[in-house]
Amino acid sequence: MATAIVVLAIYLVFHFEPALQTLLSSRMGEFGSKAETIVHVLQLVFVGILAYLIVRAFNVLIFDLVFRFRRGFEAPTLVRDIFSIIAFTALFFVIFTVRFPGINLGALFTTSAIFGVILGLALQDTLGNFFAGISLQADRPFQVGDVITVGAQRHTGVVEEITWRAVKIRTFQNHVVLISNSTAAKEPIEVCPRENLNARIVFFNTLYTDSPAKTIHVVREAVREADNVAQRITPIVRIRNLGDNGVEYEVKYWLDDYAKYNDTDALVRQRIWYAFRRAKLNFAYPTRTLLVERTPKPGMRDGLEGAIVERLSAVDIFAPLSSEETAMLAQAASSHVFAPGETVIRAGDPGSSMFVVHNGRVSVQVSENGRPRTVATLSDGAFFGEMALFTGEPRTASIVAIEETEVLEIGHAAMKRVFDNNPDLVESLSHIIAERRQALAATRELSGSGHDESAGILSSIKRFFGMK
Ligand code: CMP
Repeated sequence: MATAIVVLAIYLVFHFEPALQTLLSSRMGEFGSKAETIVHVLQLVFVGILAYLIVRAFNVLIFDLVFRFRRGFEAPTLVRDIFSIIAFTALFFVIFTVRFPGINLGALFTTSAIFGVILGLALQDTLGNFFAGISLQADRPFQVGDVITVGAQRHTGVVEEITWRAVKIRTFQNHVVLISNSTAAKEPIEVCPRENLNARIVFFNTLYTDSPAKTIHVVREAVREADNVAQRITPIVRIRNLGDNGVEYEVKYWLDDYAKYNDTDALVRQRIWYAFRRAKLNFAYPTRTLLVERTPKPGMRDGLEGAIVERLSAVDIFAPLSSEETAMLAQAASSHVFAPGETVIRAGDPGSSMFVVHNGRVSVQVSENGRPRTVATLSDGAFFGEMALFTGEPRTASIVAIEETEVLEIGHAAMKRVFDNNPDLVESLSHIIAERRQALAATRELSGSGHDESAGILSSIKRFFGMK
């Protein structure tokens, strides 16, 4: 509409130029000689307006359509403005020279040194911001949509616009902060680019009684499914400190949309709370707990005693034992927890106790060409360490926890009491030891007859435990 009006105006001032000049010179009396100049200025103004509209149309075409679709992001305001000014100035020079061929516009600007000084002083800050803005554009440290933290006051927000004067960011409280380009060019800026996988760290504490392996697993699974947590990278949960009020953890996760990190942090904390509830884990908070230690009554160690008795009575080699003997064994057993990857016993070490897997899983490993090789995996209710205990020889293999594993350790003295009352047990044990030895020998390509071996083991166990 504006273009149509301007085109019409141009047509009129050019078409009726002689008539307009005559009209003006007759009306202006002694200034009648200036009529031609006035008409030319009028023409210059209308053609200038048309030039401005053309530049704007090009601006929209290049930056709104081509730039956004080809480059995928919006062109910064500063770039658009520079384009408009250069294009408009060039067009204006051309139009001016055509309309007023006698006047050298370039000389008019270059010869005016005082004009330059005045302009320079007046626009010192503005020009500083302008050139800083240009250098920011050239350097491209960030773009519209990125989250940045800038300035001494560490303003954080999403970049909305980069103009002549300032970088405009919208903070997470929905305030607009304008940071002048010269400040932005001087200060360190932390940039979290929109296309980048940016990470966040959330902290939480647990009681010392809660297992780290379980906590890490539970939190990792709870966090990885939360909205806006990037699926490409699994969150990392790790212990950062053993603090006064509990075990201090951090969970590091990556976000799809970093601009929503406040909401996502909150969601992650919420997921951790619910996961703790389900897994019966406990948050630690600043408390002073008075621990009153009670000496256990003879015959009753604590509430876990029942679970240990149950576990031992389910172990096949202890099946022939009476309930009193199993209870005696349970009382003598001590429980130990191992983290995933920890070694419970090491091949070649001396050993005077055996173990029952209470919960968890372990692998039996032998060394092959200097590398560990798994020969068996043992889980709840299985036992190990009996070979060194019963024969007095060094440990034949290493036992490594695959997951968090609780084992019950039974010493030499307790086993001797059991053997004294159940001599038949020695025989069934000697068969198991012989079988395991054979499996080990097979991995080392050693030969050996199961039956003969078992007879030898039987006598060596009897000798070792001083039995007839
Ligand atoms: P010990 O030699 O005391 O220490 C290592 C233990 O690994 C060993 O006792 C057995 O209890 C266990 N072990 C060795 N070989 C096997 C096997 N083939 N299967 C299961 N357990 C084994």
